Amino acid sequence: MNRHSLTTPLVESSHRKTMPHRGGSVYSATLTATFTLLLCSGLYLEFFAASHWHAGKPILILHLLGGVLFTLALTPWLVSHVRSGPVRSQRRRFTLLGWLLLGNYLLVIATGLLMALPAALYLLGHIWFWRFETTHLLTFLHLWLSIAAGMGLAFHLNLRHWQQSALPIGEHRPQGQP
Ligand code: HEM
Ligand code: HEM
Repeated sequence: MNRHSLTTPLVESSHRKTMPHRGGSVYSATLTATFTLLLCSGLYLEFFAASHWHAGKPILILHLLGGVLFTLALTPWLVSHVRSGPVRSQRRRFTLLGWLLLGNYLLVIATGLLMALPAALYLLGHIWFWRFETTHLLTFLHLWLSIAAGMGLAFHLNLRHWQQSALPIGEHRPQGQP
């Protein structure tokens, strides 16, 4: 056995203790990218579609289809994430923000689906609309909760590797750090 094969496992095991757990998968990256596309297309619908309706119409259809597919793809991932996330979360404030993010996502999806209900009923042959005030409220909530969810997700991803295990052995995180 040469010198290299004796030292490598030692170096690797101490390296593993000091490296943060990277987490993530192609699936979670795809969900994050789809969420970003939904946010961008939604912001286009809110601010530019009225003056550029030729592009607004296909973007609305893509947003609606994308929203339904995103909801279907997110649900099983989120169930397993919520089972493993709290166990891996080492900081109380990170955990709290995680739950807030979850509530935020559920509200964005719920308001989106409620706004799409009249269109879905129309496809089934029924004509029905929300009252004007209800549509206004749903639009308002969907817009601002989407923006909050975007910022919350950026925060969640930015802080997620900030674990105590990332510190070299023997060092302590300064007092008061979350
Ligand atoms: C809608 C709600 C949430 C979304 C969209 C979300 C999204 C993500 C994504 C995309 C990642 C990186 C990929 C991964 O590690 O799988 C991540 C990591 C993480 N999330 Fe969440 N998350 C949510 C809720 C939560 C909740 C409620 C918790 C519980 C505290 C949590 C705890 C964690 C932890 C601990 C990691 C780091 C995993 C690691 O790197 O080992 N998340 N989250
Ligand atoms: C989860 C990620 C989503 C994000 C970030 C997002 C974002 C947005 C934003 C910013 C708007 C423009 C503001 C507004 O009109 O309220 C919008 C509009 C809309 N979204 Fe979403 N959305 C998401 C999911 C969904 C889902 C799941 C549906 C339902 C299938 C949906 C349906 C709609 C509808 C019907 C509109 C109104 C379009 C209009 O009449 O101008 N969204 N979305």
